[in-house]
Amino acid sequence: MLMRMTVLGTGYLGATHAACMAELGHDVLGVDVDPSKLSKLQAGDVPFYEPGLAEVLKRNIDAGHLRFTSSYEEAAEFAEVHFLAVGTPQKRGEYAADLQYVDSVIESIGRLITRPTVIFGKSTVPVGTAERLGRRARELAPADVEVEVAWNPEFLREGHAVEDTLRPDRLVIGIDKTRPSRAEELARQIYEDTIASGTPFVLTNLATAELVKASANAFLATKISFINAIAEVCEAAGGDVTELADAIGHDDRIGRKFLNAGIGFGGGCLPKDIRAFMARAGELGADQALTFLREVDNINMRRRTQVVELARQACGGGFLGTRVAVLGAAFKPESDDVRDSPALNVAGQIQLQGAAVSVYDPKAIENSRKLFPTLDYRTSLREACEGADVVLVLTEWSEFRQLNPSELAGLVRSRRIIDGRNCLDATQWVEAGWRYRGLGRKMQADWSV
Ligand code: UDX
Repeated sequence: MLMRMTVLGTGYLGATHAACMAELGHDVLGVDVDPSKLSKLQAGDVPFYEPGLAEVLKRNIDAGHLRFTSSYEEAAEFAEVHFLAVGTPQKRGEYAADLQYVDSVIESIGRLITRPTVIFGKSTVPVGTAERLGRRARELAPADVEVEVAWNPEFLREGHAVEDTLRPDRLVIGIDKTRPSRAEELARQIYEDTIASGTPFVLTNLATAELVKASANAFLATKISFINAIAEVCEAAGGDVTELADAIGHDDRIGRKFLNAGIGFGGGCLPKDIRAFMARAGELGADQALTFLREVDNINMRRRTQVVELARQACGGGFLGTRVAVLGAAFKPESDDVRDSPALNVAGQIQLQGAAVSVYDPKAIENSRKLFPTLDYRTSLREACEGADVVLVLTEWSEFRQLNPSELAGLVRSRRIIDGRNCLDATQWVEAGWRYRGLGRKMQADWSV
């Protein structure tokens, strides 16, 4: 059934959700407090790089299914169904999530409610938040009006956001089972087509829905750190972590996905979410249960320093006076996001230790410059590699995977390459006269030769 709804917060998650809900045929109003973001979106411009999103956005604005506003009055007037999609960043100097944006949305919309309303939270929040927000929304709304806060966590991956929203692996709806609830019925209407196409619909209580999201991200982070820990052992023992991952991945119970060893995970979600999960477990008196996530975080951060060390060895033991080419700045390919990006972090560390670092990324240069203005950004891969003592591939963009080692050979000062994502064909590079070093792999070059 076609419905009217708002999406409160139009960042990565909200803009994608708003456009995709309109694509499903609903009438959608996107709401944000940032006028520059709104005017871009209203003009059909996506303020970040996400393949396919601009087309969905434009199509639905033109069809009249989607528009944007900064007015919460208009939002409360427009619909009885609201999706809450604002950010929950890590608090400064603490592990916990900062809930100020989530709280402020409830304060703004809550006091404007005049008719029965359901708010579906999509943001990743510490367990217990949905129940608290529900209480607050009921306090703010008139006493005789039913207001419900349900939780509908989002599992989208950057770079696949449209596909993940339109065709998710599962839909999870958490409701307050102690009160009368319309959320299940509404969610089944909103996602009618998605459910009809076979997507599992999982109904839980509020706490479980919040924990599903935190646990999913914790599991993914653990899987990556597991293989990176094994990569360290492979390095010590002369094994090859890529072959190992292929071999264990054949076991259905393990699976090959998220077993790519390299410089580790970054981005706006996994690092902050595992930290917020630990902080919340601590508040609940269950901190021991999640101490392993501290180790997951440690293994992950250690990858970055190890790559810096490898690069130092490649430069003859010190960075002073050397030139280092860094290919990749985004936290993963098909994204311009550099939040907690391992690639940019490594580039920064090497620069701070005295090398001249040239960085190239197909999409993330502009964002990198804002975060780390002192690095030398180049507009092409070739420019970045000119005169380099070592080349580091730190994000597995297809442009880098397809690199021809012989072509690059003439540009660099020394044919040394570190494959921080194990995404290159090592044999091809070695045959073209390069000294190649992957992470946790055989074919480890002896830099001193
Ligand atoms: C993640 C979750 O996948 C998604 O479900 C959730 O909604 C938000 O957080 P995202 O941050 O977009 O999504 O990226 P993801 O594809 O999960 O990658 C996260 C990081 O892990 C990247 O830095 C990536 O390079 C790294 N990674 C991933 C590895 O190092 N090895 C792997 O095998 C997989």
